[in-house]
Amino acid sequence: MKKKLNLINVLLFNFPLIISSIIISCIVTICNIQLRKYSGNIIDQIGIVNEIHYTLIRITGCIFILVTGSFINKYILKRLIGFTCKQLLDKLTYSISNCNQAWLNNQNNGDAINTFTTDVNGVGNYINRIVGIAVSDAFLFFITCILIFKINFYLAILLIISSTIPVFVINISSNLLQKKYKTFQEIFSNANKTLHDTLSNIELVKAYSIQVNSLDNYSGKLKQSNEYNRTLAKLESLGGAISILTSFLTVLVTVGYGGWLVSNSYITIGTFFTILMLTDYIIDPIMKFSNTIFITKKTKVNIERLNKYLLAPCENLGNKELVQIDSKIVLEMRNVSFSYNENDIILNEFNLKIKKGEHIYIIGPIGSGKSSILKIIAGFLQHYKGDVYLYEQNLKECNIESLRSIISFVTQDVFLFSGTIYDNVSIVKPNSTKEDIEEVCKLAGIHTEIVNMEKGYFTNIGEDGYGISGGQKQRLSLARAFLANSPIFLLDEPYSALDIKNKEHIKKTLSKIGKNKVIITVTHDTSIIDDNSRVISLESLVKG
Ligand SMILES: Nc1ncnc2c1ncn2[C@@H]1O[C@H](COP(=O)(O)OP(=O)(O)O)[C@@H](O)[C@H]1O
Ligand SMILES: [Mg+2]
Repeated sequence: MKKKLNLINVLLFNFPLIISSIIISCIVTICNIQLRKYSGNIIDQIGIVNEIHYTLIRITGCIFILVTGSFINKYILKRLIGFTCKQLLDKLTYSISNCNQAWLNNQNNGDAINTFTTDVNGVGNYINRIVGIAVSDAFLFFITCILIFKINFYLAILLIISSTIPVFVINISSNLLQKKYKTFQEIFSNANKTLHDTLSNIELVKAYSIQVNSLDNYSGKLKQSNEYNRTLAKLESLGGAISILTSFLTVLVTVGYGGWLVSNSYITIGTFFTILMLTDYIIDPIMKFSNTIFITKKTKVNIERLNKYLLAPCENLGNKELVQIDSKIVLEMRNVSFSYNENDIILNEFNLKIKKGEHIYIIGPIGSGKSSILKIIAGFLQHYKGDVYLYEQNLKECNIESLRSIISFVTQDVFLFSGTIYDNVSIVKPNSTKEDIEEVCKLAGIHTEIVNMEKGYFTNIGEDGYGISGGQKQRLSLARAFLANSPIFLLDEPYSALDIKNKEHIKKTLSKIGKNKVIITVTHDTSIIDDNSRVISLESLVKG
């Protein structure tokens, strides 16, 4: 069961650390207050050597605890923030890699990227604020108020009233800030998506000379988000200004009323100095209070988006482990109907049975649903009617990891990660040896081309395979599938970028390594299909 994050439980990722930090903060705060109290005492003790001596020892003790406590607390805080951010990143990674594909396709990529950066950092910043500053500030404020209450009841009441006025004003402006921050975040995500699209399709953008439009579009969105940022800054400075005014009011109250108390001998000069120094501990938390509220409201927005991804609909089909049994029929689709949206039926009561060792082709015009069939089998599309059986087990009951472990899916759009050729192939089986990688690249007919490159297998191919040809990309993605060596191969247009020689090579490889495998090849290129092959033509089966 996935747990919803909120402003409280995000602080509790590491309970021992947070408790130690709060305890140390409180000890440091008490020392801080005592230090001021002893300093005030000295004034009244001038001339009394024994007492001053004793007070000085106490002051030294307080300073020692203060310095070591603050140092330890900083360390604990850094650990706590690092720990929480790492946990959040792990959870996000897990959730996104296991979330429903159709759901993910509908999200804005810029949003997801910002979640990993802005939102996680936002939570880190919030922890720093709350645990590092707000907790000790609140404690400081509370203890100081008690001390002043003990000295003079009316002065304490006056101080509390004058110092808490901004809380209400700031709360109103912080609600506005929260709304503005949310809009800012949306615009900023869109701007990032535009930039990402432009950079990852730079050749297309340049080919049509639309880089100016594209980048203009980006900077337009960025300007818009900057305007929101300015409004946010204005609101934050307004909160700051209110806090400064309040602190001034608090000082006036202390000096005015405190002075009157001294002149009427209700309190000593030493006590007056103590109160004056303690006022700092009322003003300081109030000054920082507006910032704490603003950070908290922003974090609320960060957490809202984090929850969107952390609670994303799961891809998990069921809990049963899918096991490869020795069944005659490996794959069966029974009365499968599917549509992305209600008006457009992609598959209508589709039936298919594939025996062990069978290699079949699915053909049909563009948009007839060929790729969708493979995505259903691979568990990417789950909202279909009817049933899909693998080794006589219904996919709806099986868990996604066990399904993926028996399927090698070569997708229609080949993607290569930034890194070396070696990394890109070995990614599906990181423990493979160099010989394994070379073997599968030979099977994919690309080994010779790789060794002829200056750095061979360690050639860096950059993001999205930039720097190598479409045909090479396609064969590398086939090499990955050969390395995974699963019993079921789903190949979506695997020949689309290959020349005749390479097509023949791949076909030979498939018949060599696929004796006991089920291989489904989706293609619109019928020239590669042998006469005796089994072909499913979608034209006659779908589009009811
Ligand atoms: N994520 C999606 N959302 C909505 N419609 C989609 C989506 N993916 C594909 N389609 C539509 O579904 C139809 C079948 O797509 P697809 O299975 O990719 O066809 P094929 O592989 O045969 O070209 C097409 O009309 C396509 O536009
Ligand atoms: Mg397709």
